[in-house]
Amino acid sequence: MRQDTTNIAFFASGRGSNAEAILENIHLGNIVAKPVLLITNNSKAEVLKHAEFFKVPWYHISNQTHPNEEKRVRFMLELLSFYDTDLLILAGYMKKIPNEIIEAYPNKIINIHPALLPKFGGKGMYGLNVHKAVIDSEEKITGATVHIVTDEYDQGRILAQQSIEIEEGDTPESLQKKVLKIEHTLFSKVIQDIISKKIELEK
Ligand code: GRF
Repeated sequence: MRQDTTNIAFFASGRGSNAEAILENIHLGNIVAKPVLLITNNSKAEVLKHAEFFKVPWYHISNQTHPNEEKRVRFMLELLSFYDTDLLILAGYMKKIPNEIIEAYPNKIINIHPALLPKFGGKGMYGLNVHKAVIDSEEKITGATVHIVTDEYDQGRILAQQSIEIEEGDTPESLQKKVLKIEHTLFSKVIQDIISKKIELEK
């Protein structure tokens, strides 16, 4: 990372409430960074409203815009490099990150998962599926995990977790709401801890 400012790029596919919270915290100075780029695979994603509001350049890159995978990945890498990306934040990105990107940004890609990894992670564990699995397993607690992205779903080093108790009567929907609330503060905190070197990322 350069000494002056940390350039943050986002990959996002949907609602973008995590991206919104992070952008807000950058705007408020709680995260000392510059949001330089947002890439989405969904041209109708709500997250684009937040990118527009905070004046973050965004690009729609999908298998419709770039049917050829090699060209698609190359374009993503070119953008990440053009915008001098230091950290890549996955804020609800529903596609697997190509290995070429993971190799180009080792230990620099961060994701948030709506459960306490290593439980309830892996392929298919997204959205309400996660919270349904948590309820079905009769867990007493759940929460959110921020971790490094590797080539295996939800397997990278855990950087931070925050838990909440599951109450009687909780449903997958109610857990999703409660966990999302935690995510909005936890993700920003971890990002700023990385920037301030409170959390050290391996080179
Ligand atoms: C969050 O639950 C996050 O844990 C998961 O995807 C969801 C994204 O929500 N990775 P949003 O788009 O940030 O609102």
